[in-house]
Amino acid sequence: MKIAVSGKGGVGKTLVAGTLARLFAKDGFKVLAIDNDSAMNLSYTLGIDEDVKSKIVPISEMKSMIEERTIVPGAGSGVYNINPEVADIPDKYKVAGPNGLQLLVLGGIEEPATGCLCPENALIRTLLYNLFVKRDEVVIVDFEAGLEHLGRGTAKGIDVMLVITEPSQKSLDLCSKIIKLSKKLGIINIYLVANKIIDDSQLSIIYEKIKSWNVPLYHSIPYDKEVGNADLSGSSPIDHNSNSEAMVSIMSLYGKLKKLKSEVFDL
Ligand SMILES: Nc1ncnc2c1ncn2[C@@H]1O[C@H](COP(=O)(O)OP(=O)(O)OP(=O)(O)O)[C@@H](O)[C@H]1O
Ligand SMILES: [Mg+2]
Repeated sequence: MKIAVSGKGGVGKTLVAGTLARLFAKDGFKVLAIDNDSAMNLSYTLGIDEDVKSKIVPISEMKSMIEERTIVPGAGSGVYNINPEVADIPDKYKVAGPNGLQLLVLGGIEEPATGCLCPENALIRTLLYNLFVKRDEVVIVDFEAGLEHLGRGTAKGIDVMLVITEPSQKSLDLCSKIIKLSKKLGIINIYLVANKIIDDSQLSIIYEKIKSWNVPLYHSIPYDKEVGNADLSGSSPIDHNSNSEAMVSIMSLYGKLKKLKSEVFDL
């Protein structure tokens, strides 16, 4: 099963992606977590060892490797291969994390105002396509905020798109755009997840707003100060306090996804 996590900046994408990755791995699934955000926070949420973390170089910054794979011999500058060989990259550059999970840090896709199709972008996009379509494990991608990352290639093979919202109109507005685009790109299982919920009145407003979207509010996660405390203490939220309200709630989200996996994707 391939799960992508998207939404506005700061809504909790990394918290959800990282905690789900840990829970799948803890349950014995083979898990590949992908960090596709230029801020590269996923390793913290996953609880990757400090010495491993400090050595990670995001794929998007491996200039010579990218050049090697995108260069067209004999062609002038500005000409490069937009479909580079990437199949070996995940296994070559992934690092090990807790519960046997693996992490691959891609880095972000830079989309300059000029709309440049740089070799880095071509390689990351081809890699994402490859990860979604070809890998056989549970793949969980923590996308960069916004919707620039979503294209025909990257959407292909996404089994479940979790769109995370916080209780704010701005966040919901972006979710609406992400959902429309995801549908257009043919993603079938699109689920809205509300995060940082403080009381039921917030959920009522969200329900009202999404009435016409034809997408269920699949799950809601409470605001939980333990998540911030984990951050402050420099530990992964699930290691910091696995019984905190947010963790217990993400465990229940995990239960739903595991059921979906066995009922729909393992047939
Ligand atoms: N349920 C929650 N309760 C309390 N704080 C939360 C909760 N979820 C996330 N946070 C806090 O909100 C901030 C953003 O969370 P996170 O990094 O997971 O979001 P993000 O969507 O990945 O952000 P970005 O777009 O910057 O990558 C963090 O400081 C995190 O500790
Ligand atoms: Mg993030």
